[in-house]
Amino acid sequence: MRKTNKNNFKKTLSKFTTGVTVIFAEKNGEVHGKTVNSFNSLSLNPPLILFSLGNYSSSINTFLNSKYLTVNILSQNQKKFSDHFSQKNPDTKKIKFLKGIYNTFFLPNCIGYLECKLIDKIKKGDHIIFICEVLRVKSDDKLKPLNYYNSNYIK
Ligand SMILES: Cc1cc2nc3c(=O)[nH]c(=O)nc-3n(C[C@H](O)[C@H](O)[C@H](O)COP(=O)(O)O)c2cc1C
Repeated sequence: MRKTNKNNFKKTLSKFTTGVTVIFAEKNGEVHGKTVNSFNSLSLNPPLILFSLGNYSSSINTFLNSKYLTVNILSQNQKKFSDHFSQKNPDTKKIKFLKGIYNTFFLPNCIGYLECKLIDKIKKGDHIIFICEVLRVKSDDKLKPLNYYNSNYIK
């Protein structure tokens, strides 16, 4: 074992395989999306999920001030969305969003969807943990997930 530093901490975390999500918040009619793999389940009863965003993120205020969020779990064929929404201020004008019932937006053809109400925010270190109640869900049994391991997408 070695004393933790930024490099060995990030490298060790990269050995944990995750799925990839894009999470959307809405502000003044504009959709803001972020690629996020810190998404996880939190509670079954009530149904809660969590994820964390860097407090340095260009979209942090939009997420902090939003009431509803959507989690879009990407399928194997959606790497382009992961790359797109990990950029700063990604353009959303050309995307044909599906609409939810809380002025919420979804990407087409995802393997899973959660329509959520933001209920808590906890600041820890350089990130903020967002806790959401899950109001509506949808999933697809035929699609395969996009996975992320060792800082790369894997099939
Ligand atoms: C696969 C993947 C997963 C990511 N997961 C997170 C995450 O959980 N939390 C986070 O703050 N940023 C995450 N990022 C980085 C953000 O998508 C984004 O690049 C970063 O917040 C900087 O852009 P911004 O300042 O516009 O937010 C991830 C990026 C990739 C490619």
